[in-house]
Amino acid sequence: MKVLVTGAAGFIGANVVKILENKGAQVYALDDFSSANFKNLEGAKAEVVCADVCDEKAIAKLPAVDAVIHEAAITDTTFKDDKKMIMVNFEGFKNIFNFAARKKAKLVYISSAAVYGSGPSPMKETQKPQPLNAYAYSKYLCDCFSMPIMKKKILPLLLGIRYFNVYGPGEHHKGAAASMIYQLYLQMKAGKRPCVFKFGEQKRDFIYVLDAARITVDALVAKTNTIVNVGTGKARSFNDIISAINTSMKTNLEPDYFDNPYVSAYQNLTEADITHLKKVIKNPPQYSLEDGISDYVKNHLLAKQP
Ligand SMILES: NC(=O)c1ccc[n+]([C@@H]2O[C@H](COP(=O)([O-])OP(=O)(O)OC[C@H]3O[C@@H](n4cnc5c(N)ncnc54)[C@H](O)[C@@H]3O)[C@@H](O)[C@H]2O)c1
Repeated sequence: MKVLVTGAAGFIGANVVKILENKGAQVYALDDFSSANFKNLEGAKAEVVCADVCDEKAIAKLPAVDAVIHEAAITDTTFKDDKKMIMVNFEGFKNIFNFAARKKAKLVYISSAAVYGSGPSPMKETQKPQPLNAYAYSKYLCDCFSMPIMKKKILPLLLGIRYFNVYGPGEHHKGAAASMIYQLYLQMKAGKRPCVFKFGEQKRDFIYVLDAARITVDALVAKTNTIVNVGTGKARSFNDIISAINTSMKTNLEPDYFDNPYVSAYQNLTEADITHLKKVIKNPPQYSLEDGISDYVKNHLLAKQP
């Protein structure tokens, strides 16, 4: 099987490339390297294509493939240029959609749990989206574009994925936009007490990248055109993260709580409803927070410096 992966040198894209190659797929790894880490593609056999998803001519020159996994996006939610954000994330998506349609290829594209904004949890795919920033809005536009097309069955498969909070190997280049788990690890590795808002009981649905990437690849054999949440279905607290990192690093660093300046607008709980995911994808996420953090810290972060 030939698969085009966009955003392939990014955090999740590179993990997707590895899984596809382990399954014997021939991969075209497309990235413009604007916010990637080329080291993420170390060991990959993929043909690397350095191109911008907004560049129609470059996309038109790509070889025929059986499937496309579209991960490329501006992923920093604090990115200030709304025009560029929507251009890359939405117009770039449409270019990739048109490419898949011309090649009659399956398309799995990446939306985000950000589309739910401050909506109620557990978050269901059917609830009203409330995008709160240009990033969330750009993903919402991709879903709005896709939903009517899903009914028409123009592509052999059109499936959207709403990742929740993904963490794991390959996220180093994201800096301040990397996961809370990576940020807390860096503080604790430096021997500092981990800083979190009072009193660390805010909860998020953290999913290990090995699960998120594996589910993304499994989505290629889904039988329905649809949009699915990709989370664990179990929100966990910042205190839980600190405790799991302490266990993995054999430290005993107490949280350092500070006042949350955004307290009135802050969401204390985001959690995926994964009922639909379990219907669409055979194997739901396998890693608990403790197992994911243990693998990440011991086998990746402590094993080799990024
Ligand atoms: N990490 C998360 O927790 C999370 C949560 C929800 C959704 N997502 C989505 O998952 C996907 C992957 O995110 P990630 O965390 O791996 O982020 P990432 O920033 O590591 O990866 C995005 C990749 O896209 C590339 N890219 C950016 N603009 C491009 C362009 N114009 N043309 C070609 N390539 C371009 C970047 O260089 C980068 O390698 C994104 O679509 C993101 O919005 C991620």
